[in-house]
Amino acid sequence: MRMTTTTMTYTNILVEKQETSPGSGIYIGLVALNRPSALNALNNHLMQELVEAMQAFDKDDTVRAIVLSGSERAFAAGADIKEMADETTVSIMSKDNFATWDRVKAVKKPIVAAVSGFALGGGCELMMMCDMIVASETAQFGQPEVNIGVIPGAGGTQRLTHALGKYKAMEIILTGRPMTANEALQAGLVNKVVPVELYLEEAKNLAIQIASKSPVATQLAKEAILKAFDGSLDDGLRFERKNFYMLFSSEDQKEGMKAFMEKRKAKFVGR
Ligand code: CAA
Repeated sequence: MRMTTTTMTYTNILVEKQETSPGSGIYIGLVALNRPSALNALNNHLMQELVEAMQAFDKDDTVRAIVLSGSERAFAAGADIKEMADETTVSIMSKDNFATWDRVKAVKKPIVAAVSGFALGGGCELMMMCDMIVASETAQFGQPEVNIGVIPGAGGTQRLTHALGKYKAMEIILTGRPMTANEALQAGLVNKVVPVELYLEEAKNLAIQIASKSPVATQLAKEAILKAFDGSLDDGLRFERKNFYMLFSSEDQKEGMKAFMEKRKAKFVGR
């Protein structure tokens, strides 16, 4: 029996440490998104808690790798549309809440995403900030922002393009259609797909395997691998976020997000 210990109490996430084998003193850190009423939609408070928990694991020498999961129904259905629907370009740029997301990118320890159900929009983008992805057969991936009059704003245009290549990324982002777990596996977006009852265990096993290696080596390897697309990634991320924020001047963003909240189809006018 592996021991788990609850560490801190948060409102929107569950945080635990799990010993990799009894008495080893080596742990993996577990973070589960926990906003079931909104399919784990990523609001500012949740993202702040997530960053805090990840940074605490980064500082804890007994933790060697981190697993980030959601629920069986949803890893996360996106950034919180209700929270941002009324923003303008000026207000969203001055708050720059998406800067919090960059701090996930700065976590040094390897992160394995355990994904079941919806991984859409910001949910898919948060997943792609992780270093490895284990998916359940029920997982659905996509960037449906065009359906609500915006574009991905937390790395989707950059990281999905790196993962899938230009043509597939264009199709997924410009049509907003979801991909199945098997399509994502074939396209190289996820490491493995397993039955839903196994996805979390498989992700933990991967983290435990990494935890048995030298933490100095795994962290430096992670840093070096990320360097493979770092320079151009940062430029791309800045460019994407500017365009995302600019869209909050458009009627289509207002209509798209309003239509989502009113549970109807959006009527876009192109301005
Ligand atoms: N933001 C806020 N609330 C959300 C949400 C989101 N992204 N996704 C789901 N919810 C809420 C719903 O509004 C609903 O709340 P109420 O019960 O209060 O009405 C609750 O979660 C359950 O959702 P549904 O009733 O819609 O569940 P469903 O099974 O019928 O549909 C779904 C599931 C297809 C995922 C649908 O919820 C959906 O389309 N969600 C939005 C997906 C999306 O557009 N994501 C991108 C967001 S923008 C973004 O992420 C920007 C970025 O790049 C950072």
